Amino acid sequence: MRARSNGGAMSTSAARELTLAGPGATVVLGRELAAALAPATAGVLCLSGHLGAGKTTLVKGLAEGLGVAEAREVTSPTFLRVVRFEGSPSLVHVDAYRMSGPDDVVELGLDEDLAGGAVVALEWPEIVAAALPADRLEVALAHVDESARNVRISAHGAASSAWLDRLGELA
Ligand SMILES: Nc1ncnc2c1ncn2[C@@H]1O[C@H](COP(=O)(O)OP(=O)(O)OP(=O)(O)O)[C@@H](O)[C@H]1O
Ligand SMILES: [Mg+2]
Repeated sequence: MRARSNGGAMSTSAARELTLAGPGATVVLGRELAAALAPATAGVLCLSGHLGAGKTTLVKGLAEGLGVAEAREVTSPTFLRVVRFEGSPSLVHVDAYRMSGPDDVVELGLDEDLAGGAVVALEWPEIVAAALPADRLEVALAHVDESARNVRISAHGAASSAWLDRLGELA
């Protein structure tokens, strides 16, 4: 299915909404996002949603898809703030939950990671909103019930729109 325009918010070029029936489906979406990245070698994925929405589960799938050997070790990096994994491309997993504002994310030097060709996956983007790159995919997860989640993926910027289009061609 092709990504569809949502015909809504001006800053959003395209969006896609899916139901994820169980954690396995969240992992598969993460893997598909990794598969859809190429030919790009860098990308920013912002993962929003309440506690337990499935953000880290999706990053696990993303790590698997990027060939990260330690994909099973992906957890919520709340106390570390950032964990970098080697992969192709590499994965930078950021958790902004305990950050106090945009300066905390600026300190991490994510621009360098992106320039070197890496995927940045950032949980709790709303806390550091002013420091987020303009071109990013936003993944908003929400509880449907205990056994399912809703996900809305929206692209902001040209590279992310192309990434979302490629995802639409896969799924
Ligand atoms: N599509 C889904 N349907 C039902 N359960 C899911 C789904 N995706 C993930 N889960 C489950 O939700 C729980 C929380 O997942 P996860 O830790 O990924 O959430 P999180 O958003 O990272 O939470 P936190 O905000 O605490 O970091 C896990 O038990 C996970 O298996
Ligand atoms: Mg988490």
